[in-house]
Amino acid sequence: MSDTPDILESVINLCKRRGFIFPSADIYGGFRSTYDYGPLGVLMLRNVKNSWWRSMVQMRDDIVGLDAAILGPPAVWAASGHLATFTDPLVDCLKCKERWREDKIDGVCPKCGNTTFTESRAFNLMFKTQAGPIEGEGATAYLRPETAQGIFTNFANVLTTMRRKPPFGIAQIGKSFRNEITPQNFVFRTREFEQMEMEYFVPPAEADEWYRYWIDARYNWYLDLGIPADRLRLFEHPQHDLSHYSRGTTDVEFAYPWGWDELEGIANRGDYDLTQHSNASGQKLEFYDQAANERYTPYVIEPAAGATRAMMAFLLSAYEEEVVDGETRSVLRLDPRLAPYQVAVLPLSKKPELEATSREVLGLLRPYFMCDYDVTQSIGKRYRRQDEVGTPLCITVDFDSLDDRAVTVRDRDTMAQERIAISDLASYVIGRLAR
Ligand code: GAP
Repeated sequence: MSDTPDILESVINLCKRRGFIFPSADIYGGFRSTYDYGPLGVLMLRNVKNSWWRSMVQMRDDIVGLDAAILGPPAVWAASGHLATFTDPLVDCLKCKERWREDKIDGVCPKCGNTTFTESRAFNLMFKTQAGPIEGEGATAYLRPETAQGIFTNFANVLTTMRRKPPFGIAQIGKSFRNEITPQNFVFRTREFEQMEMEYFVPPAEADEWYRYWIDARYNWYLDLGIPADRLRLFEHPQHDLSHYSRGTTDVEFAYPWGWDELEGIANRGDYDLTQHSNASGQKLEFYDQAANERYTPYVIEPAAGATRAMMAFLLSAYEEEVVDGETRSVLRLDPRLAPYQVAVLPLSKKPELEATSREVLGLLRPYFMCDYDVTQSIGKRYRRQDEVGTPLCITVDFDSLDDRAVTVRDRDTMAQERIAISDLASYVIGRLAR
């Protein structure tokens, strides 16, 4: 079910070697826990985000999008409760002085094995900075630790400009920042990461029904994009463990190489956020139901996912090594909607005769798919390279293509090859890959 830790190493290695994810500031020795998304990584991460956006916004008529600011004034974070309670328990090992998140180490220092620590203290995870050239309290700003608050502070703006009524949602994708005490496991927990969050505003009486609905919908989203059912499970948080805003939280968990851990959280936030912001700002954040002639503060159901964490889960579950003809091939069995390239066009040789037809094929497919064009090394090596980055289809243009106006289409997973007429190629590939 879950992979061995070796798989994590193999995926990290592949990510660096093939341009998915590089350690940030690598030429200066790296900057702990920050990563840069390379040419293939940016394509895949964008596909993860687009797949989320498509299911949340494009395919529905009850959810609209938003892109709010990352920098925010202290007032927002005081009202949201983050200034007071967005903390992790911090301890120092009394022997080696290393700092740890108390709830993650089971009383034993992971560095030196010592079991004595300082008193635990609350460490606030928000990054504090300064806006403008003036120093002091008036200039304090915070980098958002979640995208959600930008949605709550825009609740009234969206309600009036878009003429919505509950149940309706606001979706947002963007960077969030947390000064994590122990960032770890590659891009699983980093200090800078990307979230995909949706706040779904509902009449309070319908909150439980929608909470269940979104747990189901979000679980199925991962399943549909290729994570096997035996690597996904739901975990309902016990009441005593809930975040300050939550009336109920269920995590979609993934079987990582180190065991089950969070992929996404779905929470019933009740009317906590709108009430807090309404009280603090003096603005009414309610919905007036004309038919019933009543005002109420909607409850919020929030599916909150990590884009970068989801990308890691997709990579881990797609990665496979298998022996083909006595040689090991690594293959990323990514869903075509997530793969960096959907198609690779491969002229059989560098001979100039093949170039015009190969470019013609590329021109036919590029408007629909992200394509790679690769002429270097043997065709066998090029197939392996495409397998390793998850390209579902390779299209080979050979010398026969010049006469029969057909090309060979090779499938990443089965390695089966089919001859297809160039005139039918675009519709054939669309039929194979589009969902
Ligand atoms: N608005 C609610 C919220 O932010 P969360 O469970 O703290 O809830 C939601 O975060 C998701 O964001 C997590 O399930 C995870 O996928 C992602 N996430 C949170 N902290 C992260 C970190 N330090 N690095 C990478 N992803 C993170």
